[in-house]
Parts: sequence; structure tokens; C-alpha cells
Amino acid sequence: MAAALNSNLDEIFYRGADSFFSSHSETGLTFDDVTLATLYSDVLPSQTKLDSRLSDTLRLNIPIVSADMDTVTESRMAIAMALNGALGLIHYNMSEREQLGEVSRVKYHVQGLIQDPIKVSPDLFIGDVLNLIEEKNFGFSTFPVVDDKGALVGLLSGHVVKPRYAAKKVSEALTPRRQVHTVTRKELGNDPIAIADKFFTEHVGIHKLLVVDEEDRLHGLITMSDVEKITQERKAQFKPARDSQFRLVCGAAVSATRNSFGELDRERVLSHVGALVERGIDVVAVSTAHGHSKGVGDTVKVLRAAFPDLPIIAGNVTSAAGVEYLADCGANIIKVGQGPGSICTTRIVAGVGIPQMTALYVCSKAAAEKKVSILADGGITKSGDIVKALTLAQGVICGGMFAGCTESPGDVVEIGGKLYKQYRGMGSLAAMSAGSAARYGHDKRDTTRKVAAEGVEALKEECGPLDRVLANLIGGIQSGMGYLGAENLEQLREKARYIRVSPAGQREASPHDVLEVKTKN
Ligand code: XMP
Repeated sequence: MAAALNSNLDEIFYRGADSFFSSHSETGLTFDDVTLATLYSDVLPSQTKLDSRLSDTLRLNIPIVSADMDTVTESRMAIAMALNGALGLIHYNMSEREQLGEVSRVKYHVQGLIQDPIKVSPDLFIGDVLNLIEEKNFGFSTFPVVDDKGALVGLLSGHVVKPRYAAKKVSEALTPRRQVHTVTRKELGNDPIAIADKFFTEHVGIHKLLVVDEEDRLHGLITMSDVEKITQERKAQFKPARDSQFRLVCGAAVSATRNSFGELDRERVLSHVGALVERGIDVVAVSTAHGHSKGVGDTVKVLRAAFPDLPIIAGNVTSAAGVEYLADCGANIIKVGQGPGSICTTRIVAGVGIPQMTALYVCSKAAAEKKVSILADGGITKSGDIVKALTLAQGVICGGMFAGCTESPGDVVEIGGKLYKQYRGMGSLAAMSAGSAARYGHDKRDTTRKVAAEGVEALKEECGPLDRVLANLIGGIQSGMGYLGAENLEQLREKARYIRVSPAGQREASPHDVLEVKTKN
């Protein structure tokens, strides 16, 4: 009797999504406005599973996507995301050719295979090689030796790269081609690491394996230490996100490109996406600020007709009608978020946009009806926000959280003894003039008219490698799931119970009444 009364009390205060959001239908709520109630749990955080199905063919091992922004995702970030089981969306503020190149880098990235190893010419002196090592601060001293046509001539072993031999030519000191262990790209097949691992076991004392093509031109280098690191990682809980051919997954953003008459440039969109598909793209994102619009809908329709099996992300929307529209046009995954981003000024400039938790709830209902998934895009500043977003969405998109990582594009700048990286909105004037104007419905060549920026240019503190940032986020998500007794993301969505937080409650949620001496790991 008492137990029934208590659980009834819980139901009155801590509501499921339908009851909670309907009772707050006049207020736009965002992450900090709500908190999740704990539930009985026999699930340890470390046992929780984070894999998420975004479409029939697109599954991620962790439900996080790096934003298609020119200060966040190029190939380096996309590779690091996929290696962690997540997805990177290559931005489109570059030429179509450049974007294809970026996608190829991800799809042809073989973990552990150094695709473009530093090589030396047989005509150099050992002294030149020593200078090179010092100048570039290389942490290794073994180099493949190739001729001017790229053909493998031999291997310069670290044992002979010594000042004592400075006056000797590389050609005199190298291990000749016939004694160098090589493998062809074809022989590496679908699982290069397994092949290399077997090779190193069978060839005692050999630590380097060179990859050549049929004409004996050098195409890569595999080192035993990398292979050992990877075989260790394979036992890790979160495995890389790969396609059916064992390549890393990669997405790319495309815009609703218009021709000089202002109409959708079908040919151009189709030929570019066709080239992306040829390179093995796993998903394209028709990325704009206003997805519930004719231009975006028409682009999605054209792509769906031409590529029936290609997963398509489209957005952004914040309404049920927007989700329905894009789903009916053929999108599988809808981006939700208008104005929540850390660099966004859409709500200030245009006066539109919906706080993220309310937008996610509304969109999640339409998405369930239409059997599409949604991604919570923007406004995420901590792992707790991700947990809240994942109670309604199948994944999250982060920009600011990753913009300070080593893998994001751009240089590190030092200001007042601290290191920063640039982070700018795709609707900032600088980004729009570099190409993203279409995202905001403007033409980048349009200089005759005033165009209102909907984003700012900013800096993010440098935060080191993505692995570290993701590890913290994953730890937080798993912790949240443990509190709710959710073994997987489906259970998280089913079990979530919400309550509104007052401003005092928000203050209580952060460290308070202490002098913080350390805020980060
Ligand atoms: P976070 O909060 O992760 O947000 O930094 C990233 C998301 O913000 C969106 N975005 C913009 N929104 N003006 C906007 O209103 C902009 O200039 C802008 N640039 C990016 C985008 O959805 C991204 O994923």
C-alpha cells in the first residue's frame, strides 16, 4: 500500500515525456530547464550500450555527430570521430572537388597504415636526414627510400641514421629493396590490421611493413607498435564505426544549390552527390538553417529519387510539420535545432527558434509517426545535455564541444598564455563569404544588399585530442543511463521522467559556495 502510494507520488512529480511536455506546452524549455529523475537500477554505467540506429543502413556505436562546420569537421575530425564509433559530417565551405578529396581521405583511411609516410631520396646524405629529423622534430628515424618516380628503392634503418655516418649517402647505407618486407595493397584486403598482425608474428624482429602497388610504388607503411595499439583497441567497448567494406563511416553536407535563375540546380547537386556516393559516402546532409522550405524539400526529393538507398539527413526544423515534410520528401534523419548553437544568433537576429528540449519533444512525436530518426543539433555544452537530448533523439550533433580539439581545422593561437582555436558560426559573415551563404538562403556573391549574419566568430579553448573529449562525454552518458536503469538508448527513451528546474535549482546543479581550484580533468 505504502509502496503504491510512493510510486504514485513519483508519477505526480516526475512525469513521462508526453505528460511533462504537454503540461508545459506554453513554455519553450531547454536542457537546463529540466532534469531527469533517477529510477531503480541494476545497470552499471560500464554495462550500458550506446549504439544507435539512425537509418536502416546507418548505425553508430556512439550516438554523436560532429557538426558540418568549417571550424569543426574536415577529414581529420571525421576520421577521429569514426574511429571512436561516431560520425563526422564534412562541411561544404570548400569546393566540391576539395570536399570529395576530404571524403576520400576518410574512406581510404586505414587505421595503422600511414598512407603517406615520410620518405627520403637515395641521393641524400645521412647528414641531410639527421638535419631533417631535427628540423621537423620527428620522433622516428627509419625511412622508406624511393626514387623520383615513387618506386621503392630500400629502407633506411634507424640503426644507420647516426652522426658517425653523416658523410655517407643514403644509397650506400640503405637496406636494399630485395631485403625489404612488403605487401601489396590488394593483399591487405578488407582487414589490413589482421594481415599485418599475422605478418609481424611470423617475421620475428621485423617491426615495419611497407605497402606497395603492382608497379612497386610506395603506398604506405605499417608499424608493429601501431598494430599492437589497434589490436588492444579492438577489445575496447566502443568500436570504430565502419561500413560493410570495413571502411570508416563518413558523412558530407551539401547545400540546396541554386542556379543563376534562383532555381534548384538539380544537375549540379546530382553530379556532386553522385561523386560522393562513388567515393563511398555513408550519408549526406542537406544542411540549412530552415529545413521546412521548398528548396530543402526539393533537394531531398531529387536526391531520394536518384539514390533510393542513400541515407539522407535534412534540416534544420523545430516543428512536427517540418519533420513530416522532410520525411515525406524522403529524408531518413532530421536535424532539430534552430538557434540553440553556441555561436548562433538566429533567435536574436530573426526572432525565431525554439528552445531545444521542447523542439526535440515535438519533433520526436512526428518522427516516431513517420519512422524517421532525429538528431539534436546545437546547444550541447556538457554530457548531461546529451543524456537529456537522447531521451528524445537518436543522436546529437556537437560543434562547440569539438571545435577546440586537435583534430578540428585551423591553427592554435596563444592569447594571454592560453591556447585557443577559432570557432565560427556558418551564418557568420566570414563563413558565409567563404561559401555557406546558401545555408542561410543568401548568395555569397550578393554584395549589393545588406545580409544579416546569424552567427558569430569566436574562439574555443584548445582542449587536446578528440579521444579525450569523447571519453568524458561517453562516461557522462553512461553515468546518466546507470541512474535511470537504462541498458541501452531505447530504454533511456522509454524510462525518462522529467521535472522542471527553477533558476535556484539550476544554480544548485553547478558547483556553488566553493572556491573551485580545478574544473577539468
Ligand atoms: P554548438 O552549440 O554545438 O552548435 O556549437 C552547433 C550547431 O549550430 C548550428 N549553427 C548555426 N546556427 N547560426 C546559427 O543560428 C550560425 O551561424 C550557425 N552555425 C552553425 C548548426 O546546426 C551546428 O550544428
